[in-house]
Amino acid sequence: MQRNTAAHIDLGAIRANYAYACTLVPDGKILPVIKADAYGHGLVPVAQALEEQVPAFAVATVEEAVELRKALIGVDLLVLEGATTRAATERAGRHGLVLMVHAESQVDMLHGSGASAWVKVDTGMHRLGIDPETLGDVIERLQAGDVEVHAICTHLACADEPDNDFTRVQLERFSKCTAGYDLPLSIANSAGILAWPESRADWNRPGIMLFGASPFASEVEATRELRPAMRFASEIIAVRELEAGRSVGYGRRWTAERPSIIATIAAGYADGYPRHAGNGTPVLVGDQVAPLVGAVSMDMITVDLTDHPGASIGDPVELWGPTIPVNDVAAHSDTIGYQLLTGVTPRVPRIYHN
Ligand SMILES: Cc1ncc(COP(=O)(O)O)c(C=O)c1O
Repeated sequence: MQRNTAAHIDLGAIRANYAYACTLVPDGKILPVIKADAYGHGLVPVAQALEEQVPAFAVATVEEAVELRKALIGVDLLVLEGATTRAATERAGRHGLVLMVHAESQVDMLHGSGASAWVKVDTGMHRLGIDPETLGDVIERLQAGDVEVHAICTHLACADEPDNDFTRVQLERFSKCTAGYDLPLSIANSAGILAWPESRADWNRPGIMLFGASPFASEVEATRELRPAMRFASEIIAVRELEAGRSVGYGRRWTAERPSIIATIAAGYADGYPRHAGNGTPVLVGDQVAPLVGAVSMDMITVDLTDHPGASIGDPVELWGPTIPVNDVAAHSDTIGYQLLTGVTPRVPRIYHN
C-alpha cells in the first residue's frame, strides 16, 4: 500500500489570502511571489489557481519563469534575480520576461534582447540593487536602448520586525531617490503589506502570506485572517508501550520518565520535516496535540501519546497546517516557516484541493 504522507494544498486558501492582500492595498497591484516552487506548494498549480486574478507573477530565476511560460501562463513574469549573462538575458527576451536590473552591468545586456525591466535600488539590504545615486543614469541608459522600464523597487531588510526603525530609514532613502520619476514604485513584501502601511505602493510583492504563514516571529493582528494553504499530513505506522527508563530513537535523546505510549509517524527529514525539531515540538495526532520525542529520523518521527491513549496504526497526523502553525514547528527547530515550506521534498506527493 502507498505510504500515507502527503502535502495537501488548499488552492482556495491561496486565492483567499491573495484577495485579503488586495483588500489591504486597494489602490495598489498585488504581484504574487511564487518562486521556489511557490514556496513548496507547486509552481504551476499555484500559478494556474491565481492567474485570472493577478496582473503578473514574480519568480526568482529565468528557469522558473520559463517553466511557467511552458505551462502557458500568459501574464507578465518578473524575474527577481534578473539575468547575469547575455545568453540568459536573450532567453528571457524570447519568453517576453521582465528582468530585475539590480546591477549596472546588466543594463547593456538588455539592449535588443526583447526583455523589459524593473530597476532595483539598494536602500539598505545590501544584497541586490543599484546605488540610489545611479538611478537616473540606469533608467536613462535602459530607455535609450528601447528597454521598457515598468517600475522602480527596493526590498526591506527588517519589515518582519514591526518595531525596527530601519524600515523607516529605507523608506526615506527610497522616497528621496525616486522623487521626480514618473514610474510605478514597489517596496512591500508580506511583512510590509501587513505591518507597514507606509510601504504599500503601486506594486506589492507578497510571498509567504499567500500561503497562509506569518512572516513575523511575534503576534501581529493582521495575520489572523490568513489561511494556511499546506497541510503536511502523515499517519501512525506503529504504537508501543515503554517502561519508565527506556529511551527512544537515535542518540537516546528522550527517556521515558513514566510508563509511556509512543507512536511512530511516517515522516522524517527526508520528507522535509526538520531534523532539528526538539522534544516537545507539537504534532497533531487525530484531534490531539502531542509532543514529539526523540531525534527526527530520515523517514520517521516519534510522538509521546501517553496522555492521549487509544491511538492506533493508520490514525491521521498533521505535522503542520491549519491546526499546527508551521511557524510553531519552525520555532522548535531553530529555523523559520519559509524554510520548512520550501523544504518539503519531492518524495512527498502534493495533493490539490480546490
Ligand atoms: C525581492 C523580493 N520581494 C518579495 C519577496 C516576498 O517576500 P515574503 O515571502 O516575505 O512576502 C521576496 C522573497 O524573498 C523577495 O526576494
